[in-house]
Amino acid sequence: MKGLLLSGGKGTRLRPLTFTRAKQLIPIAGKPNLVYGIEDLVSAGISEIGVVVSPETGADVRGALDSGERFGAHLTYLLQEKPLGLAHAVLVAHGFLQDDPFVMYLGDNILQGGIAHLLELFEAKRPAAVVLLAQVANPGAFGVAILDAQGELKGLVEKPAHPPSDLALVGVYLFTEEIHAAIANLEPSARGELEITDAIQQLITQGSKVEALRVRGWWKDTGKPTDLLDANHLVLSHLLPCLRGEIDASEVTGNAVIESGAKVIRSQLRGPVYIGRNAVIEDSYIGPYTSVGDGAQVLRSQVEYSILLDGARVKDLPLMLDRSVVGQDAVVDGIQIGARKHTLQLVIGDMSRVTL
Ligand code: DAU
Repeated sequence: MKGLLLSGGKGTRLRPLTFTRAKQLIPIAGKPNLVYGIEDLVSAGISEIGVVVSPETGADVRGALDSGERFGAHLTYLLQEKPLGLAHAVLVAHGFLQDDPFVMYLGDNILQGGIAHLLELFEAKRPAAVVLLAQVANPGAFGVAILDAQGELKGLVEKPAHPPSDLALVGVYLFTEEIHAAIANLEPSARGELEITDAIQQLITQGSKVEALRVRGWWKDTGKPTDLLDANHLVLSHLLPCLRGEIDASEVTGNAVIESGAKVIRSQLRGPVYIGRNAVIEDSYIGPYTSVGDGAQVLRSQVEYSILLDGARVKDLPLMLDRSVVGQDAVVDGIQIGARKHTLQLVIGDMSRVTL
């Protein structure tokens, strides 16, 4: 069994964060999104993993993951010249996959319960494919499954205007070599992509067995900034406390991870919070479900339910920063005029959003 991790695509819904980095590298509780996928594959016993990358962000992804050895994996990078769809990514990877069965894992997905049950079902029933499903409030944003009264998978439709159910396709699939012939017959969809959903539908239409499994625990597709914050919340909910950095008499309640080189000075941390390597928190309040990236600084400010990427700086804010994502090396600044009055001083890039 091989793994195929998708880290190409454009990430347009996460702009401006994705102007400068691959969306799959955005850290959630200090770990790039993509790494959660590698860990799930490796814990299910899959170590031969192909990583599909784009020309724009391939070097960054390679820089972040390297050979994969530290995750117990052997990674092979596969260049997809253009983001022509999930099925196109499989087409690009065919040489690597050969005719082996494989688990395809979308690099912007994050699962709580792992994928072992997917492999168990495959071993027990040997279907042509297994898909994972999760109940969602907004099925029109996903591939949607149609089940019959017995719970058997009858069909799939990609991002329908009128969803036939509330069961979304999770971005983790198990395929056998049958998928390659189905992809060879595909035509691009209305959005110009070769859709994996259409290829799976073709397997169903031709009478091949496709099994559907419900996801265990929670699942998130981190396509939008609010999804990133929710994923951060879910991961931090299971955080185990760990102190590697330095902390003075600052007050810490709840679980906190303080990584090596980090300094917490005259501050209040209310967990769960993650403070990255070499980060500095000074005269500040960091509230629940906040991740502070490596080398980031929070000075004389209050931050809650937010993600600060590596090197971000937040200082002298007159208001609490809440439900915010601050990009790598970005600065959010308040300045003091006179004794007590504060203002905000911001340099805002294209397509950014500031809500005060
Ligand atoms: O997250 C689950 C959903 O993922 C499913 O419900 C949908 O059926 C499936 O089509 C997919 O929808 P998205 O619109 O979320 O896919 P997105 O374009 O965001 O791509 C998913 C991942 O695959 C992302 O990490 C980027 C990568 N990708 C995407 C394309 C289109 C590639 O590596 N190459 C590509 O050509």
